Amino acid sequence: MGHQMFEYDGKLANEVYEYCRDRLTHPVPLDFGSLSTDPLPSLEGLIRPEGNDAEEILEFFKHRLAQHVVSIDSPGFLAFIPNAPTKNSLFFDMVVACSGLNGTSWLESAGVVIAENQALEFLADMAGMPKGSGGAFVSGGSMGNLSSLTVGRDLGRAKHPELLPHEVRFAISDDAHSSIGKALHVLGIEALIVEADDHRFTRANLESALANDPHPDSVVGVVATSGTTNAGIIDDVEGLGSFAREHDLWFHVDGAYGGAALFSPTHRHLLAGIRHADSFIVDPHKWLFAPLDCCALVYRNPAVARKVLAQQASYLDVLHGSDDENYEWNPSDFAIHLSRRARGLPFWFSLVTNGVRAYESAVQAAIDLAARTVTIIDEMDHVELVRESSLSIVLYRRIGWEPYQYNAWSQKLLRDQIAFVTPTKWEGETVARLAFLHPDTSEALVRQILESMRD
Ligand SMILES: Cc1ncc(COP(=O)(O)O)c(C=O)c1O
Repeated sequence: MGHQMFEYDGKLANEVYEYCRDRLTHPVPLDFGSLSTDPLPSLEGLIRPEGNDAEEILEFFKHRLAQHVVSIDSPGFLAFIPNAPTKNSLFFDMVVACSGLNGTSWLESAGVVIAENQALEFLADMAGMPKGSGGAFVSGGSMGNLSSLTVGRDLGRAKHPELLPHEVRFAISDDAHSSIGKALHVLGIEALIVEADDHRFTRANLESALANDPHPDSVVGVVATSGTTNAGIIDDVEGLGSFAREHDLWFHVDGAYGGAALFSPTHRHLLAGIRHADSFIVDPHKWLFAPLDCCALVYRNPAVARKVLAQQASYLDVLHGSDDENYEWNPSDFAIHLSRRARGLPFWFSLVTNGVRAYESAVQAAIDLAARTVTIIDEMDHVELVRESSLSIVLYRRIGWEPYQYNAWSQKLLRDQIAFVTPTKWEGETVARLAFLHPDTSEALVRQILESMRD
């Protein structure tokens, strides 16, 4: 007899499958997050020497804990950047969970690595990056950005021995995602923060910032965003990328959210400049319909990244022990991580089974809904656009509202289980923001949300 913790409990298994089946077959409830009128239950005493009955605790989760969560995969979740995993990606996430996969190394998981790499290569190819580009799936955009900027920083230091280590800098726009600033902070270097024209970072902005900077040679890299989190704006990736190539600067493209527009027949041309990138990220857990947590991190020259990031230890030598190029493809070598979930597999399975065309139509659906929302807003007299929508994000104002009214309205929408929409700030003003992503979000829901702002 094995250890009691490893015994199979058929009854519990059925309860768990039933719960999962229920979630996967019925419309996803929005639920209430911290706004639930039920108080949060006490967990006191649950962790104890004897353990508890598992079915009871599952029931406790279903009825007392889960409603205190806003379901990010609901078509009514339009705040921040939502997450809309396909059914197939969720099925496969369960397969991954039960398969004992460690996606760290070729030695342990070659079969996983080739599947993940197929998905990475597909994305790199769509982005116009050369054959041989590659990397790894990491936990999220923040980790992807940090890993890439670490490589760029080290290369920059090597190219500029005349500078002190902390003197190398990256040029970023003031609309870059907060994780870029945080990565530079962690790396102990500073940013040349470039003011962008109308929030879109262009080559001309960069050239003028460098011309007015006392130490332009200390800038060793440039970060472009496609598109920005708050407004979906796609930087001048082409101009910034060509400038970086001409001046031998590390060029990173943060496409955590908007990189998915590579699948959009109407918008992919705006991302053509990614072909210049030394590194590029896109989060399948955002707009490529995979479950959290999953970011695709791709380098133009993976060998350079490996040199900076691979961990060396005597017990790991066996992972690096062959000249065979494939043998050495350890996903752990390409980011700041070692042990890793094979988190690219649910995305891979979804892409392979649904096909590229389905991905194209699902991405396009959100862009088209954003465009229709603009028209609806134009027709209404109590709301107005703050700026033209970009990708799948719409910023608009309720004419005459103060910030507290946006907050009260946002909470009421959630309490009424209509949608989860949170305000943002645009140029200092509190405004409403709709982030579309789920292809099942309907125009009728958009109208209902806008109508709810009349009172
Ligand atoms: C443009 C951009 N970069 C980076 C991130 C950070 O990604 P993550 O939350 O996966 O760490 C986000 C998140 O919304 C983003 O929109």
